[in-house]
Amino acid sequence: MTVLSETVTQTGWIPVCAYTDLLPERGACALVGGHQIALFRTFDGELFAIGNRDPFSGAQVLSRGIVGTRAGEPSVASPMHKQVFSLVTGVCLDDPAAAVQTYPVRVADGTVEVSVR
Ligand code: FES
Repeated sequence: MTVLSETVTQTGWIPVCAYTDLLPERGACALVGGHQIALFRTFDGELFAIGNRDPFSGAQVLSRGIVGTRAGEPSVASPMHKQVFSLVTGVCLDDPAAAVQTYPVRVADGTVEVSVR
């Protein structure tokens, strides 16, 4: 598990790591404002932040999932039971009754920032 460090700012955006620390199509987990977050950088350079907890197994593992796309939507498959979650909406594409939290994420001066408000 990779846990990236955090420093809280007054704006609600919390700097997490350098953009270049994130490898394309590989997740990283970060503890942000007490939330375990799975951060992803896709091949096209987009960033996504979702809750790290797989709602099916209860394990904090989504950052270790397989990144891909389903019907053009960036997604991650849980390493536990392989359910696929949209990185855009957090909804489970195999069982839309389940979803994970999504978080706003941006790059400022080369630093990835996440908002947990
Ligand atoms: S050890 Fe970090 S997600 Fe499994």
